[in-house]
Amino acid sequence: MATLLRIDSSPLGSGASFSRQLTGEFVQEWQRRHPDGNVITRDLATTKLAPVSAEWIGAAYTPEGSLTARQREILASSDELIAELKGAGEYVIGVPMHNFSIPSVLKLWIDQVMRAGKTFVYENGVPAGLLGNKKATFITASGGVYEQGSPASAMNFVEPYLRSVFGFIGVTDNSFRERRRNRQTPLRGGSRHHPATGSGVDPSPVPGGISGGRPGRADGRGGRTSGAGRACPAPTFCRLLRGKSGG
Ligand SMILES: Cc1cc2nc3c(=O)[nH]c(=O)nc-3n(C[C@H](O)[C@H](O)[C@H](O)COP(=O)(O)O)c2cc1C
Repeated sequence: MATLLRIDSSPLGSGASFSRQLTGEFVQEWQRRHPDGNVITRDLATTKLAPVSAEWIGAAYTPEGSLTARQREILASSDELIAELKGAGEYVIGVPMHNFSIPSVLKLWIDQVMRAGKTFVYENGVPAGLLGNKKATFITASGGVYEQGSPASAMNFVEPYLRSVFGFIGVTDNSFRERRRNRQTPLRGGSRHHPATGSGVDPSPVPGGISGGRPGRADGRGGRTSGAGRACPAPTFCRLLRGKSGG
């Protein structure tokens, strides 16, 4: 039976999170194509994910047969997450950009599933991924424009990082869908309610606000701000994130 693993990493709940909305739509579409398929959902916002510790490293590099009860306990969560990855043939992963990279819970999850002997091995000093024949779709959500060829693409540490990590464990059939919320749901410079803060304050570090336009004006062309909007402190940087190289 076809199995899809859906992973969400937004701290926002469904109804507020844009990336969750997108992974949800992907799942619906996938279910239409696989009416008998099985969907496993892993919500990283509600999963207890421990950072890698000295004890964890000791356990992860101890041969299976020599593990103590305590070491097995330490690795239990990692084992469960790896079993989920191995049990599915396809993955859809929702990734809101946080500070030009991935949400911290997704990094914690990656640290739990990158395990020597489990998801990758070294053969004669050469790494080999153990998760062949899997397909991954990453749905990334951001406030700014980072797609290939755009002026700010070099600041996108989401896609190259995820490509490297998943490629390393053998998932080389992967695709990225980059989405910006404002295309579907325009939010202008603090004048509207933002779900992350419950106020008009946009949590994005992108100068100019979540809309990618400058705050304070409905046309996004900048000027002095009003209300909760903020002036762009670095116009060149703001233009880069809006996907314009000049003007
Ligand atoms: C803490 C935080 C950091 C963010 N950092 C960035 C960023 O570096 N670049 C960007 O373009 N957008 C950034 N954003 C905006 C989000 O990527 C964007 O709003 C995305 O749609 C959020 O997805 P979500 O609703 O599923 O959480 C940030 C948002 C938050 C809350």
